[in-house]
Amino acid sequence: MPKLLEYPRYALQLLRGERLAGERDQQADCLADIAPMIDMQVPRQILDLANGRLRPQYTLFKRLGHAVTGIDMANWPQRSAINLAYVVARQIYTWRLGITYEPRKRRTLVCGDVGRLPFPDAAYDLVISAAAFEHFLDVPAVVAEVKRVLKPGGVAWISIHPFACPSGGHNVTFTEYPLQRMPAGMEAWDHLRQRRIPFTVPLNEWRQAQYVAEFTRHFEIIKTYCRTREGDALLTTQIEAELRDYSRDELTCLQFVIVARKPL
Ligand SMILES: C[S@@+](CC[C@H](N)C(=O)[O-])C[C@H]1O[C@@H](n2cnc3c(N)ncnc32)[C@H](O)[C@@H]1O
Repeated sequence: MPKLLEYPRYALQLLRGERLAGERDQQADCLADIAPMIDMQVPRQILDLANGRLRPQYTLFKRLGHAVTGIDMANWPQRSAINLAYVVARQIYTWRLGITYEPRKRRTLVCGDVGRLPFPDAAYDLVISAAAFEHFLDVPAVVAEVKRVLKPGGVAWISIHPFACPSGGHNVTFTEYPLQRMPAGMEAWDHLRQRRIPFTVPLNEWRQAQYVAEFTRHFEIIKTYCRTREGDALLTTQIEAELRDYSRDELTCLQFVIVARKPL
């Protein structure tokens, strides 16, 4: 899909409630994963790590009555066309959710770097993070900070958009989720092969095993799993042979989840 058509498509996805439905599914999976460890019927202190401009999970967890803080470099009230567009996008998202827009004074959004969290030790019951770890350039610092700000026994629910999947170069599309077909002129897994198409956002290029090893240094791993797949039909035997260092499972995992608990 041509890049220019992506924005109207994104708006349509918001208007039709498709984005909200996907975020709700993700929240439901998160709640199911953490249910054996945290009673979420009680209001909890939650940190949304890199909440994003749309603030999708921040908004959903607040809606459930929890005290949610979001931190993101993008939480900066700058006047720009893109920020204005996101004001509208958030209005549509919250309208689909059935709530009016949150007054500025009730927002708990901090502009900051996730590698140096401006929060006290043991402040949170739960840290969530969606589609963000792949952008962090100092993952060990972030994981150590997540441990520091979690209460003993607190849980981290981390969902990563891995570099190894077809859309892992973040330069294919942001509206086709999962990716169905490659844009004209672009080969599947270009970012792991020829790298003809440049990257437009920072990416650490970490693999699943690296994330798991880093979390294992600080946390008890409760589980890891691939929540969403993409690109099975794109993976020809030729590409599979070329990328033989990767398993088929890794090459087709669009959303890799780590559930980890801070030791008591
Ligand atoms: C793809 S967005 C995901 C946002 C959101 N979690 C979501 O699911 O829509 C990644 C976010 O990570 C933020 N980010 C990347 N590196 C960061 C850092 N070191 N500190 C704070 N935020 C960061 C970006 O500003 C961006 O909003």
